[in-house]
Amino acid sequence: MSTPGEVKKAISNPFGPPKEPLPLPENDEILTKNALKVFDETPNPRHKFIFQNLVRHLHAFVKETDISTEEWMATIQFLTETGQKCTSIRQEFILLSDVLGVSALVDAINNPSVAGATETSVFGPFYTEDAHDVPFGESIASEGKGDYMLVKGRVLDVQGQPVPNATIETWETDGFGFYDTQYVNREVPDCRGRLQSDKDGYYQYRAIVPVSYPIPGDGPVGKMLELVHRHNNRPAHLHVMIEAPGYHKLITAVYPEGDPYVTSDTVFGVKKSLVVKLDILESDEEIKKYGFKHGPVKVLNQDFILLTEQQAAEARSKVTEANILKDTTFF
Ligand SMILES: [Fe+2]
Repeated sequence: MSTPGEVKKAISNPFGPPKEPLPLPENDEILTKNALKVFDETPNPRHKFIFQNLVRHLHAFVKETDISTEEWMATIQFLTETGQKCTSIRQEFILLSDVLGVSALVDAINNPSVAGATETSVFGPFYTEDAHDVPFGESIASEGKGDYMLVKGRVLDVQGQPVPNATIETWETDGFGFYDTQYVNREVPDCRGRLQSDKDGYYQYRAIVPVSYPIPGDGPVGKMLELVHRHNNRPAHLHVMIEAPGYHKLITAVYPEGDPYVTSDTVFGVKKSLVVKLDILESDEEIKKYGFKHGPVKVLNQDFILLTEQQAAEARSKVTEANILKDTTFF
């Protein structure tokens, strides 16, 4: 700290100029080569790989789009507003990543499909850690939140063996298309809960029939979608996250068939195997048996198949090997 009237010299970081001087650019190709070369001394090879790829793609983007100074400043302004819109419960950058398909792509690369296992889906920005523990068969939603739905099934491994005591987190919008966190007067969690599978892997809870909903449209991402005439809806879905010791954490969602947005999810979260059919509880006796006050009650019968940590790591390593082989040709 300097006292008033005293000025100290600005302090540089400890790194000197590169070993070889960079040629002063006579054209934009030399400029791009220089911008890549300054990362050559990066000690962590993964960091070097990522930053050089970033620079290469950004420079290619600028050239291919022949972007104007005004457009680049508008881009920076857009990213600035995206950051400024974020709060502790609002994540506009996740939305941006989602609507550009990047979240779904990162998920696809990190969780490749494995035969027999439940596929993953995007996490989304609406999970909270404060969900109540919900006993077997009880409800995650308060009364009046939407049409009744029974959710039941088993948590299994790929050999069909039960996974007991798995922790199941589940969350959904209410029948109006809002997550509880979108209400300013939220006092307690609603339409979300934490359950356990029983000793034979069975789980069961009462919920509401999910509905399609628009992602928040009052920020820069919403404005961007309007600019390009894209709808901002997600098809109806129920989020599920399952953890059990020794197993790879499963983050997924299921999407009841027939939703008008199931083939144009604004965040690209739907996979074919995650589109499900809802049944209906037929008799009053059954409706009462499962704890509902009245009908109609839809039923989601859904088993979730977990991978062990080792099975997930093996599947992931195959993708990594393939991508590294592909990417080494870039330099
Ligand atoms: Fe969602």
